[in-house]
This record gives sequence, C-alpha cells and structure tokens, in this order.
Amino acid sequence: MRMMVRLLIVGMIWFWGGLLAAAPASAGEYVGSKSCSACHEEEYATFMKYSKKAHSWDKVEKMLPKLEPEEQQSCFGCHTTGYKKGGFVSYDKTPQFADVGCETCHGPGKEHVAGDGDPELITRTPTITTCSHCHNAQRVKDFNYKPLLHSGAH
Ligand code: HEC
Ligand code: HEC
Ligand code: HEC
Ligand code: HEC
Repeated sequence: MRMMVRLLIVGMIWFWGGLLAAAPASAGEYVGSKSCSACHEEEYATFMKYSKKAHSWDKVEKMLPKLEPEEQQSCFGCHTTGYKKGGFVSYDKTPQFADVGCETCHGPGKEHVAGDGDPELITRTPTITTCSHCHNAQRVKDFNYKPLLHSGAH
C-alpha cells in the first residue's frame, strides 16, 4: 500500500512538472490588437475588416444569457484573447481582449511594443498547435492546417 502511495505521489509530481515544462518559457503580457495598429496599420485594417476572429465575441455575447456561468467560461478560451493567460477576464474588466486578436497567433506583444517593434520579441509564424488549440479535431473534423495557415489573418 505504501509503495502505491509513493508511486502515486511520484506520478503526480512528474505529471505537474511535465505540464509546467510544457508552458512557454516567457509568457509575456498582452496589450490588445489596437496597440498594434499604430505601427501595423495595414494588417490591422485588413484584419478588422475581413477576419471573423475580430468579431468572435459578438457571437458568444448573444448566447451568454442562455448559458450557465461555467458554460460561459468554457467559450472564453477560444473566443477571446489570452483567457487565463493574463489577457481576457470579463467584458467589463478587459474589453480590449474580447475577440480573438493579433496576439492569439503572434503571442503576447508588450515587449515587442515597448522595444519599438523589435522583431526578435514577437512570434512571426504561428505553428499548427497555435491553431489546433481552438480549431480542434472535434470542432472542425476536416480542419486542414496548411491551406488555412495564411487565411483568417490579414
Ligand atoms: C475549442 C475552442 C472553442 C470553444 C471552447 C468554443 N468555440 Fe465557438 N467556435 C470555435 C471556432 C474555431 C469557430 C469557427 C468555426 C469552426 O472552425 O468550427 C467557432 C464558431 C462559433 C460560432 C459560429 C460562428 C458562425 O459564424 O457560424 C458560435 C455561435 C460560437 N462559436 C459560439 C460559442 C459558444 C457560445 C461557446 C461556449 C459555449 C463556444 N463557441 C465555445 C471555437 C470554440
Ligand atoms: C490567425 C492567425 C493570425 C492572426 C490573428 C494575426 N496574424 Fe499576423 N501573421 C500570421 C501569419 C501566418 C503570418 C505570416 C508569417 C510568415 O511569414 O511566415 C503573419 C505575419 C504578420 C506580420 C509580418 C509581415 C507580414 O504581413 O507578413 C505582421 C507585421 C503581422 N502578422 C501583424 C499582425 C497584426 C497587427 C495582427 C492583428 C491586427 C495579426 N498579425 C493577426 C498570422 C496571424
Ligand atoms: C512601435 C511600433 C510597433 C508596434 C506598436 C507593434 N509593432 Fe510589430 N513590428 C514593428 C517593427 C518596426 C517591426 C519590424 C519591421 C518589419 O519586419 O516590418 C515589426 C515586426 C512585427 C512582426 C514580424 C516579426 C518578424 O520576425 O519579422 C510581427 C508578427 C509583428 N510585428 C506583430 C505585432 C503585433 C501583434 C503587435 C501588437 C501586439 C505589434 N507588432 C506592435 C513595430 C511595431
Ligand atoms: C484563440 C482561439 C483561436 C486560435 C488560436 C485560432 N483561431 Fe481561427 N478562429 C477562431 C474563432 C473563434 C473563429 C470564428 C470566429 C467567428 O466566426 O465568430 C475562427 C475563425 C477562423 C477562420 C475562418 C475565417 C475568418 O474569417 O476568420 C479561419 C480560416 C481561421 N480561424 C484560421 C486559423 C488559423 C490558420 C489559426 C492558426 C494560425 C487560427 N485560426 C488560430 C479561434 C481561433
């Protein structure tokens, strides 16, 4: 029995340790898409006009009154920016992070902005895991990453 308990504890440490190690090395802070517009006017304008992401909050907002609080929270991870990662908290507190913004693909941008747009401080190309976090298998059975990589953005 004691052996079992010990194995269990070792297993738990291994499990949580693994999760922590899998987190990005430097999480960074979110600033919101509007902050990017000062220097990337064109990308911002195209994104706001054509990407459904830029209005992803509207869809959820319409459904919120029909949902329990836990159900509402389950939507935020995919329909807002940086939920539970220092971004979106609630529409009242953080309206700048409602919608799926630039930083969901390019990562938190505070350092890049503070560093006068140092390209080293921002992620240029998102990877498949960036997308599949939200466009997961259940949701989009035939989500085809490659042709989509350059769409839905700007
Ligand atoms: C795992 C990520 C994820 C979660 C969780 C999620 N969504 Fe979505 N949702 C998406 C994606 C991605 C799309 C775009 C369509 C697609 O690719 O499936 C979408 C599309 C939608 C649409 C349809 C938009 C259209 O133009 O037809 C509505 C409405 C919606 N979601 C509402 C919600 C609500 C309400 C919740 C919470 C109960 C929720 N979603 C939870 C990822 C998610
Ligand atoms: C759906 C994911 C996604 C979102 C959201 C997104 N981008 Fe991008 N962005 C990309 C991809 C993919 C590239 C091309 C990367 C490459 O060249 O390999 C890119 C490239 C860029 C570049 C490099 C120059 C260029 O145009 O190729 C800039 C600057 C940029 N994005 C800014 C923004 C800004 C500002 C926003 C918000 C208004 C934004 N992005 C939103 C995916 C995204
Ligand atoms: C103070 C001006 C400024 C702001 C604000 C700014 N950028 Fe940039 N950004 C730049 C400059 C300058 C470059 C490098 C020149 C270039 O490649 O076009 C750059 C490059 C980039 C690149 C390409 C990186 C590479 O490796 O080539 C991406 C992606 C990007 N920015 C995204 C963003 C996002 C997302 C935001 C908002 C969170 C943002 N930027 C805010 C000035 C800015
Ligand atoms: C934080 C969650 C999230 C991430 C990460 C994400 N998406 Fe989306 N994406 C959405 C949601 C939500 C919608 C639907 C918005 C709506 O219809 O209201 C969507 C819509 C789209 C669409 C539909 C066309 C349009 O106009 O927006 C494409 C294409 C797309 N995403 C591609 C991508 C690609 C490629 C990546 C990775 C580089 C990516 N997405 C990453 C949440 C996400």
